[in-house]
Amino acid sequence: MISPARLVQLSIFLFTIHLVICKLEFTNIKCVTLDPEFAVFHYCFLKSVNRTYKYYSLKVKLLKTPVSNVKINIATFQRLNGYKPFLYNVTVDGCRFYKHQRSNPVFSYFFNFFKDYSNINHSCPYDHDIILDKVSISHANTQVTNVLPVPHGNYLYRADWYAYNIKRATVDVYAKIY
Ligand SMILES: *[C@@H]1O[C@H](CO)[C@@H](O)[C@H](O)[C@H]1NC(C)=O
Ligand SMILES: *[C@@H]1O[C@H](CO)[C@@H](O)[C@H](O)[C@H]1NC(C)=O
Ligand SMILES: *[C@@H]1O[C@H](CO)[C@@H](O)[C@H](O)[C@H]1NC(C)=O
Repeated sequence: MISPARLVQLSIFLFTIHLVICKLEFTNIKCVTLDPEFAVFHYCFLKSVNRTYKYYSLKVKLLKTPVSNVKINIATFQRLNGYKPFLYNVTVDGCRFYKHQRSNPVFSYFFNFFKDYSNINHSCPYDHDIILDKVSISHANTQVTNVLPVPHGNYLYRADWYAYNIKRATVDVYAKIY
């Protein structure tokens, strides 16, 4: 569990990054199933429609439904010499989170990036394919300003999905902040 002091620190950073990000752009997405008998990806891709509109979509088929125990770890990495852990490493109980979104502001921040584009909009159990449809970053970019200095660089947002405490899949979203 993260300490309250650390939470405050993270919240301040999140607020700051809202102000300082110039532009965030997806550069790649990779989906890996670690247990093909539990979950398989039907698709997982990044598409550039034009310079300003890029999105990713993915669909994962759950083979052992219903799933009523889910844990998600999101960690962020910055590319220096290879990708190094950077700033966030949060784990939530996926079944509990949906009903208690304010309990974890950091995870809520990440969840907000894709929640409007997904069918993960309910609590457990999950008894259907999980779809993220055309997750676009442009809505995030509209809130930011060019005025302050920018943490330019390449970042990786890694989501590890656990069911019944076994890691089943990993989704890596690569992004560039410039
Ligand atoms: C990019 O594509 C989107 C969706 O088709 C469209 O709404 C938008 O106007 C396009 N932007 C440019 C700069 O062409
Ligand atoms: C995140 O934290 C967990 C628990 O402290 C640790 O096991 C894991 O290695 C960390 N992940 C990263 C990417 O640092
Ligand atoms: C969840 O999303 C689906 C598809 O977008 C929608 O049909 C459904 O009504 C939503 N459910 C809730 C509880 O918001």
